[in-house]
Amino acid sequence: MHDTPAGHWHEPKAGQNAGFGSFKRAAMPYDRFMESEGIPVYRSIGARRMQDLPLAPWKRLGGRGTYIQLFGTEGLWGSYVVEVPGAGALNTDKHLYEKVVFVIEGRGTTEVWQDGETKRHVFEWQKGSLFSIPLNTNHRMINASSAPALLYCGTTAPNVMNVIDNMDFIFNCPYSFTDRFSGAEDYFKPKDDLEPDPVRGLAMRRTNLIPDIINTQLPLDNRRSPGYRRVEPFMAGNRFYLWIGHHETGRYSKAHKHMSAAVLLCVKGKGYTYTWPADLGMTPWKDGLSDKILRQDYEYGGIVSAAPMSGDWFHQHFGIGKEGLRVSAWHGPNNQRSRKAGKPGEQLIDAGAIDIKKGGAAIPYYMEDPNIRVEFAETLKKQGVESRMNPEFYDSTSSAADELGDVM
Ligand SMILES: [Fe+2]
Repeated sequence: MHDTPAGHWHEPKAGQNAGFGSFKRAAMPYDRFMESEGIPVYRSIGARRMQDLPLAPWKRLGGRGTYIQLFGTEGLWGSYVVEVPGAGALNTDKHLYEKVVFVIEGRGTTEVWQDGETKRHVFEWQKGSLFSIPLNTNHRMINASSAPALLYCGTTAPNVMNVIDNMDFIFNCPYSFTDRFSGAEDYFKPKDDLEPDPVRGLAMRRTNLIPDIINTQLPLDNRRSPGYRRVEPFMAGNRFYLWIGHHETGRYSKAHKHMSAAVLLCVKGKGYTYTWPADLGMTPWKDGLSDKILRQDYEYGGIVSAAPMSGDWFHQHFGIGKEGLRVSAWHGPNNQRSRKAGKPGEQLIDAGAIDIKKGGAAIPYYMEDPNIRVEFAETLKKQGVESRMNPEFYDSTSSAADELGDVM
């Protein structure tokens, strides 16, 4: 570190480098913005229940809240929890960043309108609802009951703020994005139709509101565990990418690795996630490296950063409840591998769903650390839940094991 008074720059002598050599990471505009809001900023790999995070009165938005910035997501997307007081409302909000909202607890309505519009679009929400606020529209959250409501919001605020760095413009921009919000009467009417997403061909729903993602039907996907179900909602024309997935009771996902961005939100069941750096290898328990493995337990309303540090981290999710494990994974904008910038037309594969020995990034069950299977079985037993990890899933010669790794 340096002890040179600020404001005096000294040219290095021959053979010396300019600068301090070591330095503290600077706060980005979004970090400074969060600090200026006067509410806590929660930084961790996850939380067992967001319902238990400390909240503080939030002057700008009304209600009480906390920012959440899980490790690995810094600069990629932002999030917060806000409590709407019983029989109360938040202040009207409008911003030049996208926002998706999951209702952790409570019941209420949201009003949405463009600048200059007298008519307000109003829709209702309840525990388990997922919706998106169209870019730069006015909106107001109103609590319909006497109990507080708790909302988990994901945003592209860091992406916008870290480039524009002018909060007045971001909160007071007069432009109406009518391409994002047409003003159509049925804009917030839930839509159930499925179509293949245009990039990977996975099941997609074009809808700006899903009333209950805890119980909504999900189509079969099979990519992460046998019987796995999944849908990706395409909401409000957003770049913000997210999906909802469900592992059957008594089964767990295969480990896979990719860069940071995804945060898993537990919306049904309970469980735990292991995550470890890829350079520890595929069997870190067996190899005596278990002290370097991170674990986050969660239940309804819990969150975990899937690959919490920079670079590739393996991660694996275990549902231990009778109802299986349902998660919603939020990636922010342009971060998920299939949505990232690169040379257009380049051939990519669905690496996270393809086994390592076939060129993908997933560890097939039969190659994983034996500790994983043993611990899962013991944990389920304690919970009184039957394991449904069939022996053939672990048999490298069985066609079942082979097919599991080959499903795109
Ligand atoms: Fe993942």
